[in-house]
Amino acid sequence: MIQPQLGLDLSGIKASVSPSSLEQFARKYDLYSAQLHEGTGLGHDFLGWLNLPAEISEEHLQDIEQTAQRMRGLCDYVVSIGIGGSYLGVRAVQEALSDSFEWLKDKHEHPQILFAGHNIGEDYLSELLSFLKGKRFGIINISKSGTTTEPAIAFRIIKALLEEQVGCEAARERIVAITDRSRGALRSLADQEGYKTFIIPDDVGGRFSVLTPVGLLPLAVAGVNVRALVQGARDMMARVDRSVSVEDNPAAQYAIARNALYAEGKKIEILGNYHPKMHYIAEWWKQLYGESEGKEHKGIFNASVDLTADLHSMGQWIQEGERSIFETIISIQQSEYELRIPHDEANLDGLNFLAGKRVDEVNKMAELGTRMAHVDGGVPNIRISLPRLDAYNIGQLFYFFEKAVALSGYMLEVNPFNQPGVEAYKGNMFALLEKPGYEAATEAIKKRLQD
Ligand code: PA5
Repeated sequence: MIQPQLGLDLSGIKASVSPSSLEQFARKYDLYSAQLHEGTGLGHDFLGWLNLPAEISEEHLQDIEQTAQRMRGLCDYVVSIGIGGSYLGVRAVQEALSDSFEWLKDKHEHPQILFAGHNIGEDYLSELLSFLKGKRFGIINISKSGTTTEPAIAFRIIKALLEEQVGCEAARERIVAITDRSRGALRSLADQEGYKTFIIPDDVGGRFSVLTPVGLLPLAVAGVNVRALVQGARDMMARVDRSVSVEDNPAAQYAIARNALYAEGKKIEILGNYHPKMHYIAEWWKQLYGESEGKEHKGIFNASVDLTADLHSMGQWIQEGERSIFETIISIQQSEYELRIPHDEANLDGLNFLAGKRVDEVNKMAELGTRMAHVDGGVPNIRISLPRLDAYNIGQLFYFFEKAVALSGYMLEVNPFNQPGVEAYKGNMFALLEKPGYEAATEAIKKRLQD
């Protein structure tokens, strides 16, 4: 059966970008696509994500599903520890596919995924510990480098509670580590403790790792159909392959449109959604695009809004603020439930003109009306439509965005696969915390603070 596919509508950018500007970037597409697929472009050591969906084996999926099954038997809660690419993909899918009020229910079909290691909040960790006390829980500890401070702190603290509650041996059964094949503190710790481990391939960077065990294991524990997620990515992979013409390739079209808009002075891209479950999809997208393109003092700034809520706050700025923005809206075509607005005899709220309409119909008119108002107000609009919010379509969306950012980064002439800028804060933090090996930096930073 052919599944409905992701759609891309660029009609909302016509007033802001000339055909010749689009043409200029389209002409470069073949070159950048060749560099990407032949591994001759910038950052070519990190192209493992490119063919990943097609390379995920049945054996690998079974290993993930069996481990998830084992954890489901042992735990009511699983703490997924990680930050950046080792966090956002899991959270994005989990939030998108869960019942909005699951956490308030007394009973759950699958373990609840809780998150840690994505902040250094003492109150957050204390409240998490106090919640976990006496509960049947396990840990999935995710860090590609195995040396990131935030998740390392969280793991040390939460592991101590787990060991105190069930003993060291039983704790080992409830901990899975997802990390590098051979490097990093987490790898040595996991080998020494005998944890079950999964490998993040060397050539897959953190923000491109959602379809590795980083995303697949916690999501399988949470009951997500990871096979559908992978299938969606596989189908998109074929759809945006190098062999597809630039006109028919939505990832190429999105990359071209973004670069043409940027060249016209549209320096900020706002990703908007009209579906409250999409909030963390936008967070995942912000990392993917911000970390891939923001370098060498270049790159679109990535922001996001949840609509219609933010129409009542940032909506004013978008409509009438500085004209340096464009919008990319992800529109979900079909909601999962059907809910109609009832007729009310008294009509005191004056809403009877909507009686009998589906809530989603009103939402769609809010979306269309806003799009027209924003385009009229000088905000170019790119529209991505997803048939439904399910695992298959999120898989499509993930791969679409990954392929597009690689092409877009090449069009911008930056290396989309590194992130040298994230090291600066770490150096200062380690110097301030007097980490061994940072003695000179500690001295220098202390002097700077005194001056
Ligand atoms: O995209 C990236 O590489 C980063 O955002 C990482 O995902 C993040 O810094 C976490 O790194 P690690 O998985 O090594 O702990």
